[in-house]
Amino acid sequence: MPGRYLVGIAVSLALAVVGAGSAGAQGVVKIGIVVAMTGEQASTGKQVKAGVELYVHQHGETVAGKKIQLVFRDSGSVPAMTKRLTQELIANDKVNIIGGFEITPAALVAAPLATRAKVVEVVMAAGTSIITERSPYIVRTSDTVPQSCIIIADWAAKKGIKKVVTMVSDYAPGVDAEKSFAARFHAAGGKVVEALRVPLASPDFSPFLQRAADAKPDAIFVFVPSGQGGAFMKQFAERGLDKAGIKLIGPGDVTDDDLLPAMGDAAIGTVTAHHYSADHDSAMNRAYVAAFEKANHFRPNFMSVGGYDGMHLIYAALRKTDGRADGDSLIRAMKGMKWESPRGPIEIDPETRDIIQNEYIRKVERKKDGQLYNVEFATFAAVKDPVKAAEKK
Ligand code: PHB
Repeated sequence: MPGRYLVGIAVSLALAVVGAGSAGAQGVVKIGIVVAMTGEQASTGKQVKAGVELYVHQHGETVAGKKIQLVFRDSGSVPAMTKRLTQELIANDKVNIIGGFEITPAALVAAPLATRAKVVEVVMAAGTSIITERSPYIVRTSDTVPQSCIIIADWAAKKGIKKVVTMVSDYAPGVDAEKSFAARFHAAGGKVVEALRVPLASPDFSPFLQRAADAKPDAIFVFVPSGQGGAFMKQFAERGLDKAGIKLIGPGDVTDDDLLPAMGDAAIGTVTAHHYSADHDSAMNRAYVAAFEKANHFRPNFMSVGGYDGMHLIYAALRKTDGRADGDSLIRAMKGMKWESPRGPIEIDPETRDIIQNEYIRKVERKKDGQLYNVEFATFAAVKDPVKAAEKK
C-alpha cells in the first residue's frame, strides 16, 4: 500500500538522521573548530587552523578506529557569531568536540553550550585565567596570560628595573596581565607608576605611548593580543621610544612570531616571557617549524601550537577511551595527560584542566638568516596558572 510505503520511507529517513546524529558511535568523531578566519583576530585563526591541519596531516585521520572529521567555522572575530556557530555545530552538525576560540569572550560564550551538551571544549587560543572555571568540560592547550606575566615580573625586578608603566588591552586578559604583573613586581620591590588600558578594537596606541613616555619609566610592560603587536611596535618606533632608553617588556604576545618578521629594528631588544618561540631549540620544534612552513609559507606562532597540541590531546584521549567521544569520558581521559610539544614538555593539570608548561625568557634578535626571532635564554619549568594556584591557598 502506497501510504504504508511512505511511512516506511519516513521512518527510515528519520532513523538515518538519528544515525547521523550519533555519528560518534558509528565510527566518526566530529570536531567543530570555531576560530576567526576574518576580522581583527584573523591571524590567530589562520595559525590555529594551520596547527590543527598539520597535526591531522602528520598523524592520520583515523584514531582508535574512528574517523576524524574536522568542521571549521569562521567567527569573523565576533563572539556573538562564535555563540551561534557553536550552537549550530552542536545541535545540527552533532559535533562530539568543540575547539578553537581566538579570544576570551569567544571561549566564554561557548562555555555554557559545552556544559549543557556535555561536549568537551578545547580552548586553543584564549588566555584569561578564569576560562577553565566556566565549564567542567573546558580544557586549555594555549596558555594563561598570567603564567608569563609573573615570570617577566621576576626577571624585570632581578635586572634592576624599578619603575614601570603598564599598558594593556582593555578586556579580560589585559586586566589579568596588568594585575598579575603588578602584584608580582611590587612583591619583588618594583613599582608600577601608571596603569594604562587601551581599547581592544582598532587601537590607537600613540596617546598612551606619549603618557607612558612622560612618566619616564625604566620599562613599559605591554600586553596586546596576538595580531596587534605590529601596530603597537610601529607606533612605539614612530614616537622614538625605541631610542629613548625605555625598555619594552611583557608576555610574548606583542612579539608574536606571525608578525615579528615584519616588525623591523624597533622590536630588537624587547624582552618577553612566553611558552613558545619558533626559535625554540629542540629537534621536535625544528621539525615542526620546517613542516609548518612547507605547508603554509609562513612562520608558526604560539597560537599554532595551541591548535596542534589541542589535536594531540584529542587523539591521545580518544586512544585512552577506546574511541568513546562523550564529554565525560573524554575530559576524564584528558586530565593529567602529559606529552612533548614543539614548545617543550606540557601537561593538563588534573585539578583545573588548564595547561602546565615551561615559560622561557626571550629577547628579540636578528639572527644570521637576517630574520627577527624571540631568542630564548632562560627556562622556568612546569609553570601553573598563578591565579588559580593563589585562589587555592
Ligand atoms: C584572549 O583574548 O584571551 C587572548 C587573545 C590573544 C592573546 C592572548 C589572549 O594573544
